[in-house]
Amino acid sequence: MSESQSVQVFPPPADFAAQATISGMDAYRALCAEAEQDYEGYWARLAREHVTWKQPFTQTLDESNAPFFKWFADGKLNVSHNCIDRNIEAGLGDKTAIIFEADGGEVTHVSYKELLVRVSRFANALKAQGVKKGDRVVIYLPMSIEGIVAMQACARIGATHSVVFGGFSAQSLRDRINDAGAVLLITSDGQCRGGKALPLKPIADEALAMGGCESIKKVVVWQRTGAACAMTEGRDIFWQDFVAGQADYCEPEWVEAEHPLFLLYTSGSTGKPKGVQHSSGGYLLHAILTMKWTFDLKANDVFWCTADIGWVTGHTYITYGPLACGGTEIVFEGVPTYPDAGRFWKMIQDHKVSIFYTAPTAIRSLIKAADTNAAVHPKSFDLSSLRLLGSVGEPINPAAWSWYHDNVGGGRCPIVDTFWQTETGGHMITPLPGVTPLVPGSCTLPFPGIQAAIVDETGTELDWGKGGILVVKRPWPSMIRTIWNDPDRFQTSYYPADFNGKLYLAGDGATRDAETGYFTITGRIDDVLNVSGHRMGTMEIESALVSHPLVAEAAVVGRPDDLTGEAICAFVVLKGERPEGDAAKKVIKELQDHVGKLIGPIAKPKDIRFGENLPKTRSGKIMRRLLRSLAKGEEVTQDTSTLENPAILAQLSHTAG
Ligand code: WTA
Repeated sequence: MSESQSVQVFPPPADFAAQATISGMDAYRALCAEAEQDYEGYWARLAREHVTWKQPFTQTLDESNAPFFKWFADGKLNVSHNCIDRNIEAGLGDKTAIIFEADGGEVTHVSYKELLVRVSRFANALKAQGVKKGDRVVIYLPMSIEGIVAMQACARIGATHSVVFGGFSAQSLRDRINDAGAVLLITSDGQCRGGKALPLKPIADEALAMGGCESIKKVVVWQRTGAACAMTEGRDIFWQDFVAGQADYCEPEWVEAEHPLFLLYTSGSTGKPKGVQHSSGGYLLHAILTMKWTFDLKANDVFWCTADIGWVTGHTYITYGPLACGGTEIVFEGVPTYPDAGRFWKMIQDHKVSIFYTAPTAIRSLIKAADTNAAVHPKSFDLSSLRLLGSVGEPINPAAWSWYHDNVGGGRCPIVDTFWQTETGGHMITPLPGVTPLVPGSCTLPFPGIQAAIVDETGTELDWGKGGILVVKRPWPSMIRTIWNDPDRFQTSYYPADFNGKLYLAGDGATRDAETGYFTITGRIDDVLNVSGHRMGTMEIESALVSHPLVAEAAVVGRPDDLTGEAICAFVVLKGERPEGDAAKKVIKELQDHVGKLIGPIAKPKDIRFGENLPKTRSGKIMRRLLRSLAKGEEVTQDTSTLENPAILAQLSHTAG
């Protein structure tokens, strides 16, 4: 490696490479070359080989209305048919599709045949309710078999689902229902996490009562916790009553490849969250390919992705990818620290998990726990079933990588550090475990066919060895199709005029190693924060803060955090006096709760600082770079001569109270 001779490189273990679906650098290069020589031919070949089509496509990529690209547009398929029926047809009907482990430890197995019945009955109930192809259905459910059934049932009838993470607030849920114009909401009485039963239906009721959700005609309530919950007559119906009497088989609705499979709201740098719209055919293709190539999924694997179905990782690597490949997967309701921080390791041991995919934040918190309590250390468990590890959502720091590699993977399992985004549908830059020598902290090389590059502000591609802006040069099958209700925002966010509308702008900075061309993601270059792998816009949090009656002005930045990767730091100017001591502590708590209520607990600022003003340029722009330095506790090196009141720097340099 060029930068430092001390960088450790981990070549693929010989036994792994020997059995891998894509084995050796030559095989990787051959795929890249095939894509290079005949881009459309490459993707068309893969789409024919890996996806089951009702009506074969004859067109591959349609760029006539760029950047609103279409893939396989005249082909027809059904995603749920690909995930369930075709496995049964291949003789896997009795194979376990899902091993569900509840918060309290109860385990339920669901075979492909049983999944077909559950999905069909729910799909038939949706149809009986009048839900049809193209209608939007919002799903606000905890991690559960029911969550997957609900998503697959939507896919089966061609309804477009939009899952809202169970940690989001009533306001966030209301905004997403409103933007999507959803006709039906699926929720539960509550959710079980960490030994506690938490309410969900009351939050849904609050959202629906806010106004703007008039499109919702029906609310289906799955009874998880058994808590008493208010049911609105004529609108609300329990899950078991909804599916009662429905037939065990539902004929799939054959949809065009471009038909929107789902919307998933995610944060951008400005404005409200955007509804990222995904396709059916192209999305499914990439979910399958990445399962087979990045995760090397085989018939006997037990795959476990610890994400929540409320995030894109849960969509692609829980609901769709593993099932579309006829895999067996773990679905976990609870949290990694209950009943203790050995829960993940115990579950890997109990279910003989072979492929484990989680986020760096989870690893870091479990390192901390294992350091102080040998009983929850991975070495106290039999993890010999593992053969591959994965990481997603944020950069993994080399120390966490090494710990994961040594203690969880026993030094023998490759780690795939997968870089991708809600918008990309699946992995974009990632090692292939039987191919790529690993360097901790680097997501290494593009997935075969993905044309990732690093450019400067003018869109000119940079030589290896330089850092810049991460882009993708050609459209790919699983890419975002548009932003729901806002095609202009799609165009300006992802295909900006600065790059002649020709390059997909990921929103991340990256560097490439001068010798290997390996990519390292350096973090967002816009105002998007990544806290514990959760994406949040600074503007959203600022809007929430200024909506509090005490607040005059607020600016939010991220600062590095050992545990969560990034932490939210808010600089606040109050309408009244700048509080100190206990008074400040009280206001901090109140503001944190306020943000938690408006967006969700994950958006609560960890650090709130009060100033009589915010540092601004002469033209009145908030000096965010300076705030970032203050948040980090760094010496301010920027020119502060334009500040009206330099004393505010001292006020803002520490947390109030
Ligand atoms: C970040 C999650 C470094 C990145 C799948 C991206 C990563 C944002 C990695 C997308 C990784 C994701 N290394 N950074 N392996 N994976 N990111 O939409 O900043 O929730 O833009 O999708 O997470 O987050 P999102």
